[in-house]
Amino acid sequence: MRLDQFIATSSTLSRKEARRAIHAGNVEVDGEVWKGTGKHLPAGAQVMLEGVPLTLPGERYLMLNKPAGVVSATRDSDHPTALDLLPAELTSKLHIAGRLDADTTGLLLLTTDGQWSHRITSPKVDCPKTYRVSLSTPLSESAIKDLETGVMLHNDPKPTKPAQVKVLELKLIELTISEGRYHQVKRMLAAAGNHVEALHRQSIGSITLDPALEPGDYRELTEQEVASAG
Ligand code: URA
Repeated sequence: MRLDQFIATSSTLSRKEARRAIHAGNVEVDGEVWKGTGKHLPAGAQVMLEGVPLTLPGERYLMLNKPAGVVSATRDSDHPTALDLLPAELTSKLHIAGRLDADTTGLLLLTTDGQWSHRITSPKVDCPKTYRVSLSTPLSESAIKDLETGVMLHNDPKPTKPAQVKVLELKLIELTISEGRYHQVKRMLAAAGNHVEALHRQSIGSITLDPALEPGDYRELTEQEVASAG
């Protein structure tokens, strides 16, 4: 979509006023002032008008407390999906921003806004995700250091980016990672000589799972939560 069209659709400005705002240097795309009105926005671009993030109207943003046994897919013939937990009138055009394994619980974000979810899931954007991880055995000091430095995953040529580890109990840690590779947390702990018994996502960027949500419950994100992502 062109920048002036995006602004006219997502703010009270007309197309002409949007072009004026762009020429005046009041519009930033991904943190940089853009003065070309006709340029097309790259995927996942964040547009700010006078410092205020803009989103297209009519977009939906939800958080769901995913229970175990539910798959992070929009359709599955054998298992209940995250979309099955939402009222049918909300589900049209929704997609999942950052999947979880079927046995992982916790924060799942769903949206109609492809640019927004791209900012959360793109490997180019460092969006931290925090997991509560129950382990089969206590984590050794050297395993913590390895996770904090980066470990090699099975069948993957690149080491993981440095992670943050907080030991909560003997066999319970909080792990923050900024990547989203396939089964990443389970594979990281396996690489560190341990085994994940249970996994729960607590936060994505500055969006934290609302403690009022029981497993299977959802709510709309607040404007601040939507604006904070990415
Ligand atoms: N890492 C995993 O191994 N599984 C998940 O569901 C999420 C992150």
